[in-house]
Amino acid sequence: MSFQIAIDGPVAAGKGTVAKLLAKRLNFLYVDTGATYRVAALLAKQAGIDWTNDDEVAACVDKAQIDMHNPSDAESDGRQTTVLVDGADVSWAIRTEDMGKGASAVAKLGKVRQVLVKKQQDIAASQDVVMEGRDITYKVLPNAQLKIYLTANEEKRAHRRHQELLVRGEDVEYETVLSDLKARDKQDSERAIDPLQIVEDAWVLDTSNLTIEQVVDQIEAKVNQLR
Ligand code: C5P
Repeated sequence: MSFQIAIDGPVAAGKGTVAKLLAKRLNFLYVDTGATYRVAALLAKQAGIDWTNDDEVAACVDKAQIDMHNPSDAESDGRQTTVLVDGADVSWAIRTEDMGKGASAVAKLGKVRQVLVKKQQDIAASQDVVMEGRDITYKVLPNAQLKIYLTANEEKRAHRRHQELLVRGEDVEYETVLSDLKARDKQDSERAIDPLQIVEDAWVLDTSNLTIEQVVDQIEAKVNQLR
């Protein structure tokens, strides 16, 4: 069986950055499951299907072949991961604000989630992975060898997200970022299907007072103990 590391956590907890660095050190595949919800939104948009139509979006996604791999040297253009849909590179096409909104919309649909969870499980069955999202520890990889709930206090997360946005040239107030973050946390943990939650056997790792390197070091040490 492959070695599976499952990471869940709230908005801007640093899941992507940590998972990506950890995967690189361990030579595991990094799987950003949020990207698969973005792919669903993109496919629906291209097919003219409404983001609220569970049956049609699910059927459309079911037919598609979604592949993910760590970027090769030729693909190193700042992307975190390469995402292919039926062989076509959509790594950047799914990163727009519009696809972020679409992903949130389709992530509420039961059949779409079922189809995507199956695809995520297939990816993890054949190779060692660090997979991050909202439902990985209890739904996608309930038998993962290591389950982590990565978190940080609200102010710290809002501060990190604010800095990211400023670097990208988006002029936004800290207070706005903080209130958006609280609203998304609430939506993610209170939604009817697969809400964000802390499972009993998860290692709750609070990164409020740790650097990214310290977090990755701690997880790597734990993985080495387990392997
Ligand atoms: O992480 P990212 O912003 O790319 O995720 C896009 C959307 O997909 C988010 O709104 C998130 O709530 C949803 N999502 C989810 N389950 C996952 C990963 C992401 O519902 N495992």
